[in-house]
Order: sequence, then structure tokens, then C-alpha cells
Amino acid sequence: MSEKVRKTIIAGNWKMNKLRNEAQELATAIVAGTKGRDNLPDILLCPPFTSLDIVVQTAKDSAIQVGAQNVEYHDAGAFTGEVSPPMLIDAGVTHVIIGHSERRQFFGETNQTVPLKVKAALAHKLTPIVCVGELLDERENDLTDPVVKRQVGAALNGLTEDEVKSVILAYEPVWAIGTGQVCESKEAARVVGLIRKTLTQFFQQDKDGPDMVPILYGGSMNAKNAEELLAQDEIDGGLIGGASLKADEFLEIVNHACKRPRLSAAKA
Ligand code: 13P
Repeated sequence: MSEKVRKTIIAGNWKMNKLRNEAQELATAIVAGTKGRDNLPDILLCPPFTSLDIVVQTAKDSAIQVGAQNVEYHDAGAFTGEVSPPMLIDAGVTHVIIGHSERRQFFGETNQTVPLKVKAALAHKLTPIVCVGELLDERENDLTDPVVKRQVGAALNGLTEDEVKSVILAYEPVWAIGTGQVCESKEAARVVGLIRKTLTQFFQQDKDGPDMVPILYGGSMNAKNAEELLAQDEIDGGLIGGASLKADEFLEIVNHACKRPRLSAAKA
């Protein structure tokens, strides 16, 4: 008998916000608000590249981990403007967001480049947080399920079972991002459940594999709606944009996550 339990993760995606002194201030407040507390979820801060080092330094003696918002899949070379996995590791980063809808919409990220980045991140022991989600137009045309399935299938293509277990997924419906229009919690849980079912294709040996992959929700999550979203068994945490830029609000979301049973990815 195995107990299927997963980590709860609260991640702040700061996007292109915060100068270094502001990033330090925000990280300092979040570290202070979580210090010495038991039963916390995994907490992750994802500042822009320019503030990675200052946030890593600020979070040094805390439980908080630091992620980047993008990565290049080559290790080094003539790729002007890009940052590689070894560079992120060198900066003290443990996680990286890959395939965020803003990168898909504005910076040419595709179902072809996402898996290359996922593989490169895993090869360097960075944990990828892979974002998937449908556009409004796709939802209105009943294409949510096929779009999300295709994105998950593409992102994890060619990974071993152990590699898939090392990935975090995030369901971020694009129409809910930065709009204040949160996805209804039952519907978010339904799509997260669909993503979990989609994961079965990657597990021939370990039938419990899909239950070990954390799947987060993102899109206008805030201190008011987090409780209901995090009360859904399927949803393992949040990837939070706007509401992660204010320490008080982010800490309130962390508090809601604390009400979930302390979860670890360990199997009995
Ligand atoms: P908002 O929380 O601002 O809607 O952004 C969500 C998001 O894109 C997190 O990656």
C-alpha cells in the first residue's frame, strides 16, 4: 500500500517587477513572516534575473527557495541575452519556470522549445515548473482539454519516469492571468485532474508516478480566493503573479496553504 501524498508549493512569479533594493525588501519581509514556523508549504520566490543573487542571499538561512523565470537550453556559447542552467545553478537557484504563457505569447516559446528547456534544466538538477493553459478563445471553443493535454505531452516528451517525477506542473489558464478573473475552483481542479490523467502515459513501471507530481494553479490567485482553490485536493499549490508582489498578501496565501495537511512526496 502506498500513501499518495504530494508537496504543497506556494510560488511567487514576480515577472518583470522589482528593482534590486525592492526585491531585497520584499524577500526580507517574506523571510521574516515565515521564520521559525512549522508546517509551512514549500515556498519559492522567482524574481527577475537581475535580483536572483540578492534574493538568494536574503533567503540563505531560511526555508525559502529561489527560482528563475526562464532558461536557455544550451550550457554556454554565442546566445546573446540568454542565461543557461549552469549559470542559474551558479547563482544559487533551484527552480525555473518554463513555458509561461507570457513567454509563449511574446517571446516565441513553443511546444518544441519547452521540452528542450525542461531536459536541460533537469540535466543540471534544476526543478522545472512547466506552465500550461488555454487561451480564452480556446476555452470558448471547447478546446481547453486538448490544448492542455498537448502542452503536457509535448513538455514531458522523452523524459524518464524519474525525470517526470522531478517536474512541477502549473495549470495557468491564460484568460485568468493578470485579469482578476480567477478560474472557478472546481473547474481548476477538473483541469488539474485531467493533467494528472495525462501523466499516466509517461509511467509504464510506476503506476503511482502521476500521483507524485505536484500540479499548481495560477491565474489571479490572491489572499481572498486562495483558500477555496487550495481546499481542492487536486490542486497542490499556487503560482502567483500580482499577489506575490506584496509581502502581506503573499504571506496570507502561505497561511491558507498551511491549513492543508503537511505533505511530502515520500511514499509509505
Ligand atoms: P497573476 O497572479 O498576476 O494572475 O499571474 C499569474 C501568473 O502568471 C503566475 O505565473
